[in-house]
Amino acid sequence: MTDFQSVFGAAPEGVWAAPGRVNLIGEHTDYNDGFVLPVALPHSAVAAVRRRDDGLLRLYSAQGDGLVTELKAAELDPAAVTGWARYPAGVVWALREAGHPVGGLDVHIDSDVPTGAGLSSSAALECVLAAACNELYGLGLTPAELALTAQRAENDFVGVPCGVMDQMASMCCAEGGALFLDTRDLAQRQVPLDLAGAGLRLLVVDTRVKHDLGDGAYAGLRAGCERAAALLDLPALRDLPPAALDGALVQLPAELRPLVRHVVTENARVEQAVALLDAGDLAGLGPVLTAGHASLRDDYRVSCPETDLAVATAVAAGALGARMTGGGFGGSVLALVAAARLEQVAAAVLDAFAEAGHTTPRVFPAVPSAGARRLS
Ligand code: GLA
Repeated sequence: MTDFQSVFGAAPEGVWAAPGRVNLIGEHTDYNDGFVLPVALPHSAVAAVRRRDDGLLRLYSAQGDGLVTELKAAELDPAAVTGWARYPAGVVWALREAGHPVGGLDVHIDSDVPTGAGLSSSAALECVLAAACNELYGLGLTPAELALTAQRAENDFVGVPCGVMDQMASMCCAEGGALFLDTRDLAQRQVPLDLAGAGLRLLVVDTRVKHDLGDGAYAGLRAGCERAAALLDLPALRDLPPAALDGALVQLPAELRPLVRHVVTENARVEQAVALLDAGDLAGLGPVLTAGHASLRDDYRVSCPETDLAVATAVAAGALGARMTGGGFGGSVLALVAAARLEQVAAAVLDAFAEAGHTTPRVFPAVPSAGARRLS
């Protein structure tokens, strides 16, 4: 890769890619041991990497400030690394913490995953480096083990208490499908998602309202779910069946009830969505998405005016269904749209944002793409 060559003065040993994702349904279920159904985006972080024998970790981002961040692989300290470099550095740290012999590296990263858009740009950065280290240092880790290492990097090096969905999606998704994942035991199945065959498109609307999962709100929601599970004497909210929901809610303090209602109904929506996809009823997914949005807006309260406007406008303009995707507090919306109506729905959303005086959103169709892989 010429860019690597110009920054580091030699050719890389290999080039890897790891994608961002959109989650079809199953939001805020992963840290409750529940189900998720993400799809990998064509947008990826691409890393050209070469081992070094002096223990230095040198990181360069094509989206950065033009400077090389230089660290010592054996002395990585979360408090001393800032910005995007925390993600790749965190992966080297997590691999070394787990006893893997990862040493110095020159790393050139170029990513087209929109940042702060709820599309897992950070997981893409983590997973691309995990995949590269796995091969260059012959670690022999499985994609799921690499995803768990990447999650550890984000939890304990970056300091965001995220679940495992984004890293599993980036590592394990397959082209043309959605990843049905049980986050309790990481059992997974690729569910075919032939949107084109069904005459459908998945439209992503990045509202450009930047979300920040590190600001405490996400951690607070996670803590609320864990407190509710403890009060109900359950290992996790995943263990509360829908039929027992009403009986459980009355045992909980009022502020925890909507959180529990969202998680239990959202897990059921994932199972419903998978059943629809298995039956080839892709259009049937629409109302499930819209119901998921109402639950995130009214019960989990992680929506915002821009995501609500994008959902309402898309549905009014003929989308079969729409919802915010990712952690929330801004970020992106996905809409399931008949191919013939794609332009109409996109135009309606752009008009509505202009009329409301919001920043122009970035709108693009999502094509279910491959997970992390070596490019050369
Ligand atoms: C973020 C986190 C994920 C998940 C989603 C919400 O993307 O990184 O682990 O919790 O929010 O579903």
